[in-house]
Amino acid sequence: MTTPFYDAIILGAGAAGLFCAAQAGQRGLKVLLIDHAPKVAEKIRISGGGRCNFTNRELDVRQPHKHFVGRNPQFCRSALSRYTPADFIALMDRHGIAHHEKHKGQLFADRSAEDIIAMLLAECAAGGVERWQPCKVNSVSYQRGEHGAAGVYQLTTDQGPAGATNLVIATGGLSIPKIGATDFGYRLAQQFDLPLVERSPGLVPLTFDGAAWEPYAQLSGLALPVEISTGSKKERMTFHEDLLFTHRGLSGPAVLQISSYWQPGTPLSINLAPNVDLAAALAQAKLRSRKLIANELAAWLPSRLADAWVAQDAEWQRPVAEASDKALNRLAERLSRWEITPTGSEGYKKAEVTLGGVDTRALSQQSMECKDQPGLFCIGEVVDITGWLGGYNFQWAWASAFACAQSL
Ligand code: FDA
Repeated sequence: MTTPFYDAIILGAGAAGLFCAAQAGQRGLKVLLIDHAPKVAEKIRISGGGRCNFTNRELDVRQPHKHFVGRNPQFCRSALSRYTPADFIALMDRHGIAHHEKHKGQLFADRSAEDIIAMLLAECAAGGVERWQPCKVNSVSYQRGEHGAAGVYQLTTDQGPAGATNLVIATGGLSIPKIGATDFGYRLAQQFDLPLVERSPGLVPLTFDGAAWEPYAQLSGLALPVEISTGSKKERMTFHEDLLFTHRGLSGPAVLQISSYWQPGTPLSINLAPNVDLAAALAQAKLRSRKLIANELAAWLPSRLADAWVAQDAEWQRPVAEASDKALNRLAERLSRWEITPTGSEGYKKAEVTLGGVDTRALSQQSMECKDQPGLFCIGEVVDITGWLGGYNFQWAWASAFACAQSL
């Protein structure tokens, strides 16, 4: 039996792999898409609460560092400017998939993430893409071409051998291993001597040690808008989002966002009442109110939080009129600059993304091809580019896939 031969083999039928396969197929290339999981695009399926936050209208392609993390966020500028949120929205519109905007430019499918998966599969079918799934890749080798001819990638898989002129790594990151995430892409990158930036969970809830967390564990389930910051003065990162208390620590959009910038061992600073000058408000209250401090605080904070907070100091468990200025100032300071150092994170089982990955210095920003390994491409999350929460990661998957597909 002769080995089937393709213009491109794409490893990973997730967001980036499906989109790249469809685009390349529609350009007339013979494409094979391989995934080891029984179902395609599991992450699209579970994303955005089942409605997939597929892009973000606020993406500023001229300033990718505003919404992307990595050693060199500027790397993604070329791809993002050639395939924009408007392009993906137009594709959704062509397929008649209704969508809506939520918070801060985030776009979701009205009905279900399944509609987006069906759209990507239809685009692949339109490009004549062949798919092997579930299919385990056992080995990948490369034979250099002679006399200027293109080299060849040879794969052995549990569905037989396959060969191609181009190989695309689209195997994503490490988060949520139970739905198919593996380190295969990173291992393959290492096989071809591509440098890797250290990986760690991103967009992840942060955890705190038992004893230090005890006073706050009772707040599990409570959500409130906050201002959250981390980093030194020079590299301060701040988000205004909702915070969620959990049994083991903190979550919610505020913490997921800051987690991608947080360095282990360093504190977070949280303003639990960002819309009021608490010191001034408490000083005012002292002049006119006979209420307990906790009851006054409840005007600006959820009352469960106010009660838990004042329980930490006897000076705060009295009527505001009887409290010393010093005690009130200390309370205002603790609430508006709550400094707390996470002991860890919930890890890859809860992270939405993986920080780090294939070092962008090894790749062309126009094509996503490896500079020193002709015909090998890396796209999507396997690359050291991580977006903010809010549809930025899918936009990177679409844009990097598009850039690659144009160059195959
Ligand atoms: P992706 O993970 O989509 O695909 C990788 C594919 O490779 C998978 O199909 C996998 O099975 C396959 N694979 C892995 N190892 C393999 C191997 N050894 N052999 C063959 N195939 C292999 N982003 C966003 O912008 N908006 C959102 O709403 C969300 N929501 C969200 C929720 C949750 C719970 C998670 C975990 C993540 C998100 N994300 C998100 C992030 C987003 O899902 C992610 O960044 C993209 O799916 C990355 O696309 P990729 O194609 O690179 O990887």
